Amino acid sequence: MTPQRRRIIKSSESSANDKKNKRGNSQRQASFWRHNVSILMMLGASGFVSWIYFTWTDELTHTLVSRVEILTQPRVFNVDCSEDYKKYKLFPGCTPTKCGRAISDNVVTLEEARKLRRLAEHGLSLAGSDGGASILDLHSGALSMGEQFVNVYRYFKDQIRDVFTEDDFLLYRDVRGRIQKAIAETFGLNFSKMYLTKPTFFSRINSSSAKTTHDEYWHPHIDKETYGSFDYTSLLYLSDYGVDFGGGRFVFMDSSSNRTVEPRAGRVSFFSSGSENLHLVEKVNWGTRYAITVSFTCDPEYAIDNPSLP
Ligand SMILES: *[C@@H]1O[C@H](CO)[C@@H](O)[C@H](O)[C@H]1NC(C)=O
Ligand SMILES: *[C@@H]1O[C@H](CO)[C@@H](O)[C@H](O)[C@H]1NC(C)=O
Ligand SMILES: *[C@@H]1O[C@H](CO)[C@@H](O)[C@H](O)[C@H]1NC(C)=O
Repeated sequence: MTPQRRRIIKSSESSANDKKNKRGNSQRQASFWRHNVSILMMLGASGFVSWIYFTWTDELTHTLVSRVEILTQPRVFNVDCSEDYKKYKLFPGCTPTKCGRAISDNVVTLEEARKLRRLAEHGLSLAGSDGGASILDLHSGALSMGEQFVNVYRYFKDQIRDVFTEDDFLLYRDVRGRIQKAIAETFGLNFSKMYLTKPTFFSRINSSSAKTTHDEYWHPHIDKETYGSFDYTSLLYLSDYGVDFGGGRFVFMDSSSNRTVEPRAGRVSFFSSGSENLHLVEKVNWGTRYAITVSFTCDPEYAIDNPSLP
């Protein structure tokens, strides 16, 4: 056996030991809690038990921002960048060197969010998926219909101007620009080296059960793996968690805990797209959730133009 091979085995053994230790610790912790919780229950201290329960579960699920809070400036959480970006060409001034997540409530006004939501409702009312999750991509024109997609521009031809106006597209472009600016400022990027990329779409989710895999939005995923072109992902929420819909929180899945963002109309959340930001959207269990996904790339080859009426 070569020394190198021995070293590798040794380090994998020690990491197995680490895991065993961790497991041992958590088992000891769990039995500590079980023991104490049962004593407290015997004492009938149910208020205290629920306090322990919530403090304990808090360690696993942490709310980065609740629906009722209003953030007047971005709340930023830095995360170490994953190695993912190294597999791609480097674009100085854009390729993530600083990674993380941020949420802001003052990039888009409530009034604008309402307008965009009406646009989403209108566009998506033309069709929609049979299975709970529908999208409308203003750039490609892709619209969910039944168990597939149609091209809204081809399908509705001239009538499309009864659905969308030039003003709608102006608003979209304006909002997209402000989101791009917020991302550039937060991560220290050169605004003009970031490009809009596809897909960029409106989504509507309700509690109907999935009919095809396109409807299965709740699986954990990494945007850079799903769409190689993505470097920064942003989401603009158009409805309120707990008011317009239940479930449907956005969850960053870190190894030790889940960190959630509660949607609120006009709230923008953005993050670097690599595996440092594994995430999912919880299943919506009542009501309807509207949002817009706007994504950016550093690679001019994947750049798309702003959506416009044909
Ligand atoms: C940002 O990028 C543009 C376009 O490549 C370039 O002209 C400009 O000098 C850059 N600005 C800075 C501050 O690096
Ligand atoms: C979800 O939306 C679709 C499309 O509008 C609709 O047919 C379905 O009834 C809705 N499901 C629920 C549970 O409201
Ligand atoms: C995070 O949420 C997912 C999906 O709900 C769950 O499978 C996972 O166990 C949670 N992780 C932690 C650390 O609680």
